[in-house]
Amino acid sequence: MDSIKLNIAEAIAKVLEKETDEVFAAIETPKDSKMGDFAYPCFKLASVFKKAPVMIANNIKEKLGDVEGVSKVEVVAGYLNFFADNTVVVETTVKNILNKKDACYNLEEGVGKTICIDYSSPNIAKPFHIGHLRSTVIGSALVKIYKALGYNVVGINHLGDFGTQFGYVIEGYKRFGQNIDLTEEPIKKLVEIYVKINEMAKEDEAIVEKARENFARLEAGDEEIVALWSKFRELSLEEYKRIYDILGITFDSYNGEAFYNDKMGEVVDMLRDSGKLVPSEGAQVVELETEKVPCMILKTNGSTTYATRDLAAILYRARTYDYTKCLYLTGYEQNLHFKQIFETAKYIVDEKYVPGLVHVPFGMVLGPGGKKLSTRKGASTTIKDVIDEAIEKAKQVLEAKGKTGEEAEKIAKAVGIGAVIFNDLKNNRIKDEIFDLDEMLKFEGETGPYVQYTYVRTNSIINKAGYEPTEADVKAELLTAQEEIELIKLLALAPNMLKQAANENEPSVITRYIIDVASAFSKYYNECQIIVEDEALRKARLALVKATGYVLKNGLNMLGIEAPEKM
Ligand code: ARG
Repeated sequence: MDSIKLNIAEAIAKVLEKETDEVFAAIETPKDSKMGDFAYPCFKLASVFKKAPVMIANNIKEKLGDVEGVSKVEVVAGYLNFFADNTVVVETTVKNILNKKDACYNLEEGVGKTICIDYSSPNIAKPFHIGHLRSTVIGSALVKIYKALGYNVVGINHLGDFGTQFGYVIEGYKRFGQNIDLTEEPIKKLVEIYVKINEMAKEDEAIVEKARENFARLEAGDEEIVALWSKFRELSLEEYKRIYDILGITFDSYNGEAFYNDKMGEVVDMLRDSGKLVPSEGAQVVELETEKVPCMILKTNGSTTYATRDLAAILYRARTYDYTKCLYLTGYEQNLHFKQIFETAKYIVDEKYVPGLVHVPFGMVLGPGGKKLSTRKGASTTIKDVIDEAIEKAKQVLEAKGKTGEEAEKIAKAVGIGAVIFNDLKNNRIKDEIFDLDEMLKFEGETGPYVQYTYVRTNSIINKAGYEPTEADVKAELLTAQEEIELIKLLALAPNMLKQAANENEPSVITRYIIDVASAFSKYYNECQIIVEDEALRKARLALVKATGYVLKNGLNMLGIEAPEKM
């Protein structure tokens, strides 16, 4: 489709003596396909030519001549509407997908550019709450999306492995934790220690003092304290990695907050030298132009903050990765924090690194019916519990369909995890997500299992036919049913969807897209028999089935969801 759009842009550009790129960017896709496949609005030209948009559109139409891949041009109001030649669309789209296979979405616009994606980033000794699951899932999808665009992607887990909470956990561990076996479920146990010592601190001011002292010793590199800290961090990290393994996620860097402990001095010096660091009620802050609340760099007791560490991280990432963009995935409650550090960043890094800093916020997770999620007994709902429950439920759903055994076990994993990820990525990320396992595991409706199942169906059609279609089987004159054309035009959009998902940092663009593809395929499947007598027609239809399979499978993979071959 894009090649036809390019032909149109070139033709119009020639008539108007404009740049092709500019015209290309202005071409829209009409909402209603009756209005054609592409529309060029002439309203903005009215003031230039001092004529009504309709007249301008008519003038362009007269001078246009034949445009390759276009069967009809119409003027409607101030629009020039173009109808793609279906023969060309069918040929190019289906052949192209069969040719590109697993790269059917891919583009190359990011080649030579580096993007850092800072995601997941749980806090050690604090609950890995379900918000971190969102950060993990959305971030990992963006990693895949940008990779498909050709970017060099650096996935960073900015671990919350530093901060006053460590002063407390260390104190708790010293007082009552020595007998606790941290090799099993360390995350949960550390949280329990943290919760308990905090309770005790409410009654006992001495604990608060001790915790402060522990943290100060950690900052200073005290051997005993660092050893404990490092043990807590390592054990927790091992457990996180097991979760990431299940989700199929790896990071390029686990440089967390602690990594910047010895790198903040430089930041403080830079801010001081630029004259931007000012005292405020005993603390040291940077005043901002766009925010009332200044960015706190040093607290009254002289210790650094979450923001100071993030600024050191920006400096480090600019130097180490020379990034074009650096994305941060957190809940929207951190909006202010990111505004503050991004504005402060201009005093420490070259200005070219500032516009690429982007906070990618998301909404909260709510329970069924939009109610607040009940945190279970104990300190946390671990992400592991959530995943285990999803897999268990998927197993039950599959059992009810008569599927058991080892293979069913594997499928249950793909379906259970897939359902959770799909649900998370289904709507605009800024919307609160409803977490309802029963709903997301349904095999019909807008769910992961539905799309996975549709993929499986494309597969089993091919298997049943016992024939692997190839590009040579694509015959435009045979694929003319309305359902076919609709499906093919949708498939043609795959690369555009990838681009849009990246532009908006919005994986839901792809989720919605594959839901549409799945339902267009179901319509096609219901209306057009695929295994027909006529060999050429059968093979052409199988080629379309195969192409649909590629778009569904790779769409799922891009979201971080497995596409099982059987279900
Ligand atoms: N650890 C933080 C939290 O759980 C998220 C960190 C996000 N990344 C960053 N560079 N600040 O809230």
